[in-house]
Amino acid sequence: MARLKTAILISGRGSNMQALVDAAADTDYPAEIVSVISNVPEAGGLERAAQAGISTTAIDHRDFDGRASFENALHAELTEAGVELVCLAGFMRLLTAEFVERWFDRMINIHPSLLPAFKGLQTHERVLAEGVRFTGCTVHFVRPAMDAGPIIVQGAVPVLPGDDADSLAARVLNAEHRCYPHALRLVANGRTSIVDETVIVDGAEGPTDITVNPDDGASQRF
Ligand code: GRF
Repeated sequence: MARLKTAILISGRGSNMQALVDAAADTDYPAEIVSVISNVPEAGGLERAAQAGISTTAIDHRDFDGRASFENALHAELTEAGVELVCLAGFMRLLTAEFVERWFDRMINIHPSLLPAFKGLQTHERVLAEGVRFTGCTVHFVRPAMDAGPIIVQGAVPVLPGDDADSLAARVLNAEHRCYPHALRLVANGRTSIVDETVIVDGAEGPTDITVNPDDGASQRF
C-alpha cells in the first residue's frame, strides 16, 4: 500500500522529528517522511534529517515581508513535494487561519501538556506551579486557535517530588517520542475520523486501569 507522504516542520533540535523519521525508516510504517522544513536555517534538526537521507529545506521567515508571503512559500514547497500530511514538531511560528484552512485535517501537532490544559509556552514551569499530579503530551489536528484541535493521542506522565522544569521536560519528551509515531501511524493508516471535532480511532481501546499519583500502596485499599 502507498505510504502517506508526510512533511515535518521544525524550528529547533528536532528530537520529535527524529522519532518520526526513525519510525518511518521501517518500510511497513504507513507514513513516509518526504521533506523536513525549518523556518530557522540553523535548526539542528535539519542536519539530523539530512543525515537520515531526507530532503531538507530552510525557509527563513525573516526573508519575507509578512506572514502571508512566508506561508505561500511554505505551501508551495509542500505542494511541490506532493505532501499529503504535515506534522508540526517544535515549529515555533504561529500559522494563520488561511494556512490552517489549506491543510485542514491534514496537519497535526504535538504539544507538551495534556491539552486543553497548559496551552502555550513554559508548560512545565506552569505545571509545577499549579501542583498538578499528572501532565503529559498531546498530538492533535491543527485548528486556527493555538494548541487547539481534535485530540488524537495523549500520553500521561506523573509529576514527581523533586521535579524541576528540566526533569519534567525530559520525562514528557520521552512520552512525546512514543506518542507522536503512534499518532502518525493511526492517521496514516486511516484509522482516525473526526466527528463533531472529536477524533474517533477505529479499533482502539483505552488502558484498562487507572494510575494514581502519589502512590504509596495505600491507594489500593480504597
Ligand atoms: C517539544 O516539547 C514539542 O512538544 C514542542 O516543542 C518541543 C520540540 O522539541 N512543541 P524537539 O525539537 O522535537 O526536540
